[in-house]
Order: sequence, then structure tokens, then C-alpha cells
Amino acid sequence: MDKIPEGVRNYLMEAYELAGKWSLPNQRGNYENSQAVPMKTVAVIGGGTMGRGIAMAFCLAGFKTILKELNQETIQICKKELEITYAREKVFKRLNDEKIEKLRTTLTITDDFDTLSDCDLIVEAVFEEMKLKKTLFAKLDNICKSTCIFGTNTSSLDLDDMSSVLRDPTKVVGIHFFNPANIIRMVEVVYGSKTSSKAVATAVEACRAIKKLPVLVGNCPAFVFNRLLTMYTLQSQKLLFQYGYLPHQVDKIVTNFGFLMGPLTVSDMNGLDVVEKLKTENGWPITEFERVMWAQKRYGRKTHKGFYKYDLKTHKKENDMEMEQLIRDLSSKAQPNIQILNDQDVINFLLYPMVNEGFLCIEEGIIDRENLIDIMFILGFGWPVPTGGPMMFGRQQGIEKVANTLVHWNSLEPEDRIFMVSDTLRSINEKNLSAKL
Ligand SMILES: NC(=O)c1ccc[n+]([C@@H]2O[C@H](COP(=O)([O-])OP(=O)(O)OC[C@H]3O[C@@H](n4cnc5c(N)ncnc54)[C@H](O)[C@@H]3O)[C@@H](O)[C@H]2O)c1
Repeated sequence: MDKIPEGVRNYLMEAYELAGKWSLPNQRGNYENSQAVPMKTVAVIGGGTMGRGIAMAFCLAGFKTILKELNQETIQICKKELEITYAREKVFKRLNDEKIEKLRTTLTITDDFDTLSDCDLIVEAVFEEMKLKKTLFAKLDNICKSTCIFGTNTSSLDLDDMSSVLRDPTKVVGIHFFNPANIIRMVEVVYGSKTSSKAVATAVEACRAIKKLPVLVGNCPAFVFNRLLTMYTLQSQKLLFQYGYLPHQVDKIVTNFGFLMGPLTVSDMNGLDVVEKLKTENGWPITEFERVMWAQKRYGRKTHKGFYKYDLKTHKKENDMEMEQLIRDLSSKAQPNIQILNDQDVINFLLYPMVNEGFLCIEEGIIDRENLIDIMFILGFGWPVPTGGPMMFGRQQGIEKVANTLVHWNSLEPEDRIFMVSDTLRSINEKNLSAKL
């Protein structure tokens, strides 16, 4: 913690405390007057990338934990993947033999719905498809006891729509973990228009029990974290297919800035199939580049190729000549209007849209304060701590500079949603202009 400026440390500590003092709008309940459901048994539905990590966290924290998969075949895949994770976590000294034994012997992995009847909390982590999640919740409604809280790990989908299939929609709450869920200490707790304070209190309590920091956010497509992350991801892809940067070049600039990993490495780790489902489900525009990548099943680590390729045996990341040729083909035809001359321009191109999106989230009432956004990125994304998170980075840069740049980019690319400037930044820009007159 020594290298962290005191101002940044205080700012983040304030955010940490603020996150605990959650409150639903319209006096629907808050941290002081809401009781969590007592929790002994937790079920996670879907043993994929996220579900496995979530189940591990609950199991290690002492909950009776059930991981529900589709069928015997997917159970075997899930078990195999868990063993790979245990081995990796042991190498990194985050798991020892005792904990691995506990996971092997007490984490129940099943395809039997009836085992879920006594759960206090369900966290669904099946594919990002509204129809599938609704069908699942409707089925669980007939199986689970009436007090069971239904959490969803959805990255983007409408909680109100999802909860509409339940007899009691107040029990649905978003519990949005970050990847890898067994490690990352941040969780977005999402409330819909009907979510009860009891459901929020239960989600918050569950997160604390597994040593994660919950931050309460409102319901909108992609919530807060993924809204900002989407800006960063889309900008990183533009650097490839519009400007001709190669994945390792962008990643290097970003790690030099202080991030643990570059955006293309992160995209490959999270899985581009998740983005495909997210964009398809929400009807968001798809770029030509994404279309080609998805057609080639370039989903990242899980298909051994994405922005990079991955050795089938060692899983080691390597530069991919085919990918680099695709980038050259697409970028040679592109005519971007925004000028990028050096590494700092690359960083600004990636991060300024995140600052803007943060202000949009605050203006829409999805989250209360800038430092809550920042702590999410510090704990949830490996954001370099000395710059305090995206919003503080914007302030450190000079918020007038960020505002002026975004307004300028918006004038160059008026159709691009990423550069639709928030009222906050637009008014800062207007004040600047009138001060100069
Ligand atoms: N991957 C990420 O980085 C990430 C981060 C946060 C949230 N999420 C969200 O978490 C959810 C899961 O994502 P993922 O990346 O783990 O997906 P995944 O494809 O890795 O895993 C999904 C799993 O769900 C299982 N499944 C599907 N239908 C099922 C059913 N009816 N019953 C039981 N199991 C079923 C599948 O067999 C599969 O193992 C999605 O909603 C996604 O948006 C993903």
C-alpha cells in the first residue's frame, strides 16, 4: 500500500465504507432496516466458467453447496475443469491440499433438480439467454422453498423481465460476480423495480460471507461495471481493425500504463462467446470484426483461439498470424477520423469513454457516486491503484480535458454511441468555451 498516494487511499476507503451503507430508492429499505434470509445451503446453477468459481467460493466459506449442471456429460466436463482450477490455484498458493480435499468431498455436483428444494439462496450462472433463465426460474419456483432468494449472475439482462415468471418477483436479485469468481473480491448487487430489501440484504450478506465487497447498482442493460467495460473492450478492438495495432501491441501499452493484463488478453480470458450472447440478447450492434471472429469460433481461451492462440496442451498464449492477417486486411480499408499518434493517445482512446459512461450511469441514477465505480474497477479489474479507478483517472487527467476531447471525438464520429457525451461532461465543456469567450 506504500506507493498509493494518501488521497487515493482515503478516497477508496471512503468508497469501501459507502458500499456497506446501501439503500434502495423510494424508501424501499436499506442496510439498517433490512434482514437477510438465514443461509445454510446455497445452490449454483450452471457449472461453467462462472458457476464453478462461485460454487468454490461458497463451499470454501462453509456453506452446504450444490452445483447443478445439465446432464452427466456436462457434469464430467465441469469436474474436469474444476480439477484444472484446483491444480492451478495450488501452484499460485491460493489453495492447499486441505481446501482441495474439502472441495472434492463436500461440493455436490448434480443434474438432479430435486436436490435444490431446501436451498436458501440460488445463484444461476447458465448461458446469457433470457428465455433459458426464465424457464429455469419458473421451474425453480415450483421446487424451492418459498423463502429461497433467487440470485442471477447475468451480465446484462433485465431483472424485471427475468423475475416476471415468478409467483413472487421480489425475491430476484442480481449477484454479478467477476471472472475468476473464486478470486475477484468484487460483486455488483443489482436491484430491479420489484427486488425486495430482504433479497438485497441476503445478496449482500452472502457476498460478505465469501469475503467479497458488494456494491449496489440499478437495473439497466449491462449494469455499471459491464457498461464501462464494454466501452474499453470496443475501443480496444477499434485499435485493431481501424488503426492496425496488433493485440500484443495494445496489451503492452496497457500493461506499461499499470494494468495487470491488456484488454485483448482479458477478452480472451472472459470468453468472446459471452459477448456474442450478450450483444445478441440485447440487440446491440455487431462489428464486422466480431462477425468474423464469431464465425471462426474465436471465443478466446476456451476454444484455444481468440485475439491470441493458445497451445492445446500447455494453454500458453501465443501471437496468432491468422489473427494478425485479419487485422491487416480490415484496417487497410478503414478510415478512422480520430487521430492516434502515440501510446498516451491509445490510453486516452481506451479510458476516456469509460469516464463518460461512468457519468452517464450516475446521471441515470444507476449508481450513486464516482468512487463506487472506481472501487469496482480497483477490486474487480486490476485497475492500477495509484490512478484510483476510471473516474479518478478522469479527474487526475483534468476533467475539462476529458470533456473537451470527448466533445471533439463526438463531432468527428457523431454516429458512434461510445462518444455520446454525458450531460456532466458536456456542461463542463460548455463552461470552458464560455470562459474562453
Ligand atoms: N464469463 C464471464 O466473464 C462472466 C462474468 C460475469 C457474469 N457472467 C455471466 O454468467 C453466466 C454464465 O456465464 P459463463 O461464462 O459461466 O458461461 P459458460 O458457458 O462457461 O457456462 C454456462 C454453464 O451453464 C450450464 N447450463 C446451461 N443450461 C443449464 C441448465 N438449464 N441447468 C444447469 N446448467 C445449465 C452449461 O452446461 C454450462 O456449463 C452468464 O449469464 C454470463 O453472462 C459471465
